[in-house]
Amino acid sequence: MITLSDRLQRLPGYPLAEVPTIKRRLIAAGMDVIDLGAGDNDAPPPAVAVDAMTAALRQPALSKYGFQQGLLEYRQAASRWVERRFGVQVDPVTETLPLIGSKDGLAHLPFAVINPGDVSIIPEPGYQAYIGGSMLAGAHPYIAPLRPEHGFLLELDQIPEETLRRARLVFVNYPNNPTAAVATVEYLQRTVAICRRYGILLAYDNAYCDLTFDGYRAPSIFEIPGARDVALEFFSLSKSFSMTGWRLGFAIGRPELIGALTRIKSYTDTGPFLAVQKAGAATLDQAEALVIPVREELQRRRDAGVEALRSAGFQLETPKAAMYLWVNLPSGIASAPFATRALEETGALVLPGSAFGPAGEGYFRIALTVGPDRLREAARRLGTTLISISRGELAAAT
Ligand SMILES: Cc1ncc(COP(=O)(O)O)c(C=O)c1O
Repeated sequence: MITLSDRLQRLPGYPLAEVPTIKRRLIAAGMDVIDLGAGDNDAPPPAVAVDAMTAALRQPALSKYGFQQGLLEYRQAASRWVERRFGVQVDPVTETLPLIGSKDGLAHLPFAVINPGDVSIIPEPGYQAYIGGSMLAGAHPYIAPLRPEHGFLLELDQIPEETLRRARLVFVNYPNNPTAAVATVEYLQRTVAICRRYGILLAYDNAYCDLTFDGYRAPSIFEIPGARDVALEFFSLSKSFSMTGWRLGFAIGRPELIGALTRIKSYTDTGPFLAVQKAGAATLDQAEALVIPVREELQRRRDAGVEALRSAGFQLETPKAAMYLWVNLPSGIASAPFATRALEETGALVLPGSAFGPAGEGYFRIALTVGPDRLREAARRLGTTLISISRGELAAAT
């Protein structure tokens, strides 16, 4: 018999792992499933990416190993975009690293800074790669709950001093998945100051920086003075350009930190496909124009979804960014049974807050991955589930 590692068995369940199987079963049974689970937009990737990729496939040199160095053209396009977008300068060779999606960098980063037993500070609810990567690297995860009364901000000054002293890494993600919260510059200054004081590496996950509404602009961590000493920042082409399956992102930061992540990754992968990097370079060079329609459509979906969910009896904030609605459930209704019933009985697929860790309980997440009409239909179905569960609760109580 093969014995699996303790490390593997300690990992929490991955929230999206079972969803495709359940969805397939329901569709096979004739159910009209509205999938608002994964943050995977229904829009196609930009034509510029598809054209560049098609041409790249005909260049044999781009079918070779990319290694960590990858395609200089991609690193240059990434650093040019960072400068245009945030006014931040990074060297394309020493301060930029191509990633196989930003998840690759986020999940591997703990191996570069964690010794067994060191603390990694993990926001909860939050993107699962933070806790998974940290635990695989032997970290002791310290769960920092994101609370509505603090605007879902990870407040380092709420963490005991003793823990901060043992911490080597913190993951900070704004615009946030799943809460859609955004951070002010003042919050980022506070966070950088604490990371500097305790020598904590600040992994700033900016995957949603361009999906912003009502004129809101999401900053880079490197707009904060002093951040260069302690931070690495992670970007993704997945969300802004509907390129989730292409697996392309990049990290930026000072050479020693980028070098450390590069060294770890040189043992686990050989970099993103060079043809994909070629297409990524073409996409980033046109990023500003390409994200406008994506952002506008998401804002239309946000408006339709918020209004329809409120009419269906739910409470939620109107988010300024990201591609999610984080919807409050009435107290006493647990998120997992709610999501299961909504899916099995109505075909509305949402993620229960508890899938993002216990601190996500009391909420469910909707990804704005379908158009306004389908969102309205999903809200109507979720409303019927809410009513039937509430009636059941009431009947049970009387
Ligand atoms: C907060 C956050 N960070 C990073 C990622 C990873 O994106 P990718 O690996 O596709 O770049 C996701 C994906 O859902 C996310 O929600």
